[in-house]
Amino acid sequence: MEIIETDIAIIGAGGAGLRAAIALAQTNPTLRIALISKVYPMRSHTCAAEGGAAGVIKADDSLALHFDDTVGGGDWLSDQDCVEYFVQEAPKELTQLEHWGCPWNREADGSVAVRPFGGMKKQRTWFAADKSGFHILHTLFQTTLQFESIKRYDEYFAIDLLVDDGRCQGLTALEMHSGMMKQFNAKAVIIAGGGAGRMFPFTTNGAIKTGDGMALAYRAGVPLKDMEFVQYHPTGLPNTGSLLTEACRGEGGVMLNKHGRRYLQDYGMGPETPLGKPQLKTMELGPRDRVSQAYWHEWQKGNTVTTPWGECVLLDMRHLGEKYINERLPLVRELAIAYLGVDIVKDAVPIRPVVHYMMGGISTNTKAATSLPGLYAAGECACVSLNGANRLGSNSLTELLVFGKAAALSALEHTMQAGSANAAVLREKALASQARIRELFSRPTPSDGGETLSGLRKEMMDTMEKNCGLYRTETGLKEAVSTIQSLRERYKKVSLHDKSNVFNTDLFQVLELGSMLDCASALTVSALARQESRGAHQRLDFVQRDDVNFLRHSMASYQGDALPRLDYLDVVITKSPPGVRDYSGDHK
Ligand code: FUM
Repeated sequence: MEIIETDIAIIGAGGAGLRAAIALAQTNPTLRIALISKVYPMRSHTCAAEGGAAGVIKADDSLALHFDDTVGGGDWLSDQDCVEYFVQEAPKELTQLEHWGCPWNREADGSVAVRPFGGMKKQRTWFAADKSGFHILHTLFQTTLQFESIKRYDEYFAIDLLVDDGRCQGLTALEMHSGMMKQFNAKAVIIAGGGAGRMFPFTTNGAIKTGDGMALAYRAGVPLKDMEFVQYHPTGLPNTGSLLTEACRGEGGVMLNKHGRRYLQDYGMGPETPLGKPQLKTMELGPRDRVSQAYWHEWQKGNTVTTPWGECVLLDMRHLGEKYINERLPLVRELAIAYLGVDIVKDAVPIRPVVHYMMGGISTNTKAATSLPGLYAAGECACVSLNGANRLGSNSLTELLVFGKAAALSALEHTMQAGSANAAVLREKALASQARIRELFSRPTPSDGGETLSGLRKEMMDTMEKNCGLYRTETGLKEAVSTIQSLRERYKKVSLHDKSNVFNTDLFQVLELGSMLDCASALTVSALARQESRGAHQRLDFVQRDDVNFLRHSMASYQGDALPRLDYLDVVITKSPPGVRDYSGDHK
């Protein structure tokens, strides 16, 4: 097995990984940086983000308002020191992207344009039409190309972290095209591997979002924090799960039930407002958790529209006009035509809530450091506790930048005082990791009693959808915990159909399933124990928020074959005591 010596290894080359790599290369040009990703960087899921990135820029806005929107939107589960740091760094990072060439939309006077977004009481979402993620990713990627010290390992699948002497000192990864295992020795590792939405069958998440980074850290002893908080985006295309950006509503689109009624006014989201653009009244610009939950109630009341793809409500943008739609929402128009045959210029489009984002993830502090020295995490795979129980749309693209950079600076500091490695021990651990992969090749085939990848994966997804959706109950969550636990047991017998070494997608999907099952285990156990309703975690049997018992983070720790151990961590409150979330008024 080849050994690759590097100073800092980054796992994941989406927004957070690329931002970390740039910060490292700029701060210390002599540093050896290994950027390891299971896909070519431009195929990372950041590319799929549409609506934009939040940061205060206009004169009528302030850091205090961005802080308030984020903390209230998160139902007070955000760590407020983290939010303070985030809102302050956000405009700097978005301006930095501008200087690296990001083509933000402009106002008529040439200044950066912003649009309204859900749960934000001021316009602060910077955007590039409805392809903001693509442009951000492209800007970051092209910037990394300036630095020879960033060595890319595209299409390498991270397998295990190498931990010795109580600190993370590297990883093993499979070179996907050859099937050869490589040992990366590093003084520090940054995980930026994205979320795990693929545990669910109906999701905006690309096929690569299987929680591999979360599982790596979890198995190495770092807790997964607040995993029960899964965000449903209110406007998914019903047959594919493709995202129709919140910008549809930010630009003035409205949501209708089958009677043509703008039903959000019935769910504490303000009086009906005139059609027009843009609107800062709440209604369709309510926070994601509330807008998605309102769909569920409309469905219960029989107010949804029955379509060939299930029960939906309607998103109507016709009043925006073709010219404006083509300028601001060209991708949305293209997606609705391609996948539903609906032209949003002429017709309202059916939509329904779709799994979009994990608020939980690898537990980190505000400096993106985990509890394992030498290991850092940023982006959706991490839970730095910015988003609390419900993330506001457009905070996540900025989060990638702010905490990608923070992870880089913390990792760099660590490398300066990291002791020397014990080469023999690292080698022994890398060989054990290789043996773990080889064992998969020696398992019996399904006809000899082995389990199939597709069978287990389907059972996992069905269980998650049935029991861990918008509204949850004790009975459903107990069923989910026990099903996921039995799937983890059966996973030990999963077989490979393809026993070859060359780009073995069967093998990669088996590894991804293992990651998802571990994430699902942490999620279901955390959800069952949280006997309250807060943000995206709604219990039909515990309908109130309970600040006395649950104003705290769930911390799930890996226990091998057993269920995770659950501990709790206090939320950091600096200046905003828990209050009532009010989305009923006009916030102009
Ligand atoms: O709706 C959107 O464009 C998604 C944005 C986000 O998740 O931040």
